[in-house]
Amino acid sequence: KSIGVVGIPFDKGQPCKGVNLGPEVLRRAGAVKIIEQLGYDVKDYGDIRLEDIPNDTSAYGVKLPRTIGADMRRLSETVSQVVGNGAICLNLGGDHTLGIGSINGHLQVKPNAAVIWIDAHADLNPPLSSPSGNIHGMPLSFLVREVQNYMPKLPGFDWVKPRLAAQDIAFIGIRDVDKAEKMGIHQVVEGALNAVNPSFDIDALDSSICPSTGTPVSGGLTLREGMYIVEKIFRTGNLSVFDIAEVNPKLGTPEDVAITVNSAMSLIGAAFGKRTVDFIRDDYSIP
Ligand code: ARG
Ligand code: MN
Ligand code: MN
Ligand code: MN
Repeated sequence: KSIGVVGIPFDKGQPCKGVNLGPEVLRRAGAVKIIEQLGYDVKDYGDIRLEDIPNDTSAYGVKLPRTIGADMRRLSETVSQVVGNGAICLNLGGDHTLGIGSINGHLQVKPNAAVIWIDAHADLNPPLSSPSGNIHGMPLSFLVREVQNYMPKLPGFDWVKPRLAAQDIAFIGIRDVDKAEKMGIHQVVEGALNAVNPSFDIDALDSSICPSTGTPVSGGLTLREGMYIVEKIFRTGNLSVFDIAEVNPKLGTPEDVAITVNSAMSLIGAAFGKRTVDFIRDDYSIP
């Protein structure tokens, strides 16, 4: 089986500087090596090229809509290409805005894919309902069919198709939900596991094991719980795209960064079949 790795050094969806360094810090920590060692045929597509469109004025409270739209379009095309080639796509973020490109591109090739949104947050705010104006809290609003009545026509996003039915999303780890998001979540139940797109925001984990992220929330998943979720998904044999988002190596002390990156690496390994215990004897007889 082959894996295509895509870096998304994207930080325009939220105000904390440094999350653009996510792909670099994860690559340095060995994200590509760890999956190669598991026996996959790995192709690294490098980092996607990001736009800087001049005079990109805000619309509906969203900053840089044309630029962000163009960035996500490029990610969407890359994910379509990787999945279309029969590979699993590993997306290294970058802030969680990347869900727009990742999921749109995935669904274009596999319309029946189900999304597992592993996050402290629902990231389902339509632009005008967002309390922050940060687009990393909005990605699912672009994708979910049932909320399109609340979606304004944002410049730069005409290529996104709301291909995802609310019933094909499962939320795990959610514990900080805004008012408008509650109505959307109400309709969401666990979907069929055909092609699966786990989108893992590192802040789904308890903030003690991911201190270096922009919007940490206490009371989250333990590392074992996070790994268990992705191990289960791996074992369905239907993992198709895996996102890891919101690792920010500029937040906190060097020790905080190490804790956070180690958590992310454990999740990546587990998502691709790395076992906690690597060597198990097959003979326990006592001589
Ligand atoms: N719900 C809040 C907002 O809309 C926080 C979103 C945080 N999202 C994230 N991907 N970390 O601003
Ligand atoms: Mn989050
Ligand atoms: Mn919130
Ligand atoms: Mn998120």
